[in-house]
Amino acid sequence: MKTSPAPTTGRALAKELLDWYDRHHRDLPWRISPPMAARGVRPDPYHIWLSEVMLQQTTVQAVKAYFAKFVTRWPTVDALAAAPSEDVMAAWAGLGYYARARNLKKCAEAVASLHGGRFPDTEDGLRSLPGIGDYTAAAVAAIAFNRPAAVMDGNVERVISRLYAVDVPLPGSKPAMKARVAELTPSDRPGDFAQAMMDLGATICTPRRPACALCPFRRDCRALEGDDPERFPVKAAKKEKPVRLGAAFVAVDLDGNVLLRRRVETGLLGGMTEVPTTDWNSRKDGETGTSAAPFAAEWKACGTVTHVFTHFELRLSIYRFHGPAPNDVRIHGWWEDVANLDAQALPTVMKKAISQAIPEAFPIERG
Ligand code: ADE
Repeated sequence: MKTSPAPTTGRALAKELLDWYDRHHRDLPWRISPPMAARGVRPDPYHIWLSEVMLQQTTVQAVKAYFAKFVTRWPTVDALAAAPSEDVMAAWAGLGYYARARNLKKCAEAVASLHGGRFPDTEDGLRSLPGIGDYTAAAVAAIAFNRPAAVMDGNVERVISRLYAVDVPLPGSKPAMKARVAELTPSDRPGDFAQAMMDLGATICTPRRPACALCPFRRDCRALEGDDPERFPVKAAKKEKPVRLGAAFVAVDLDGNVLLRRRVETGLLGGMTEVPTTDWNSRKDGETGTSAAPFAAEWKACGTVTHVFTHFELRLSIYRFHGPAPNDVRIHGWWEDVANLDAQALPTVMKKAISQAIPEAFPIERG
């Protein structure tokens, strides 16, 4: 029979975790490695802010290349503030959640114009900037400025919910879990502690088949004691995503140019580039047919693409036209060389739509 070990103090738990982190932290491009916050060496706040914004809803693996591209092209927050918005949106294309890119630019402008190019060094100061919410303010305050902020993301929630066997389902359990993180966060290395929790969640305390034998919390983990760590975090039942339907029109003229347009500035994919589409709400696929196409022509149906957004699933019927550019185009748009599509601010759903009609359009991504 298992015996419960005496509960370890928060300070001792934090020490176990930081010892583990000193040996097993991930080397990530925005980090100082080895971790040196304790010795007063700090990473560049611009790098930390940029990486934290990119990492929201996106994997570390996907972020690495975008982070490198951004800091090479815009090495400082002032350089990013001065960049044309279209360039920033185009560089962000493919990372998703495009409101983040619009806010990134606004935030860079605020840091450059209101703070002389230096990020505020407190959670409250950071939260006053455009696009910086509770998570980003806490993460940047802790990691870049070594402030004792409680940083909670999905990985940290999983670790805490298992360590304390939290039975209350998410999202209701968040405030109590944040209080646990605040209790555990050590005042001398809060930034390393935050990153250590995230690394533990990403590499050991994984959603499926966690590597509990390697975990620095294994002697104190209540979920492990109950033999079922995967049961945590408990989540409220998910609602099924609604499906929206629409049609997208990929027109290619005789010189190999594709008809594109810019989406309105606000709302989903605001300010990004797209091929002309119908509204995304038709109740029956094909209902709108090609009557909503940007010009009257022989449109050839070439299948559908599906893309899952946060709040709905989109199924687009794709139509293709190849012929002379007509004079009576009913939209404000432009004809762009197929060879130049990679440089456009095309979100992933639009790349999928174009690839369905022109399979050779994005050769590298097809791998
Ligand atoms: N996910 C989000 N921010 C992170 C960080 N700073 N380290 C590791 N994973 C993360």
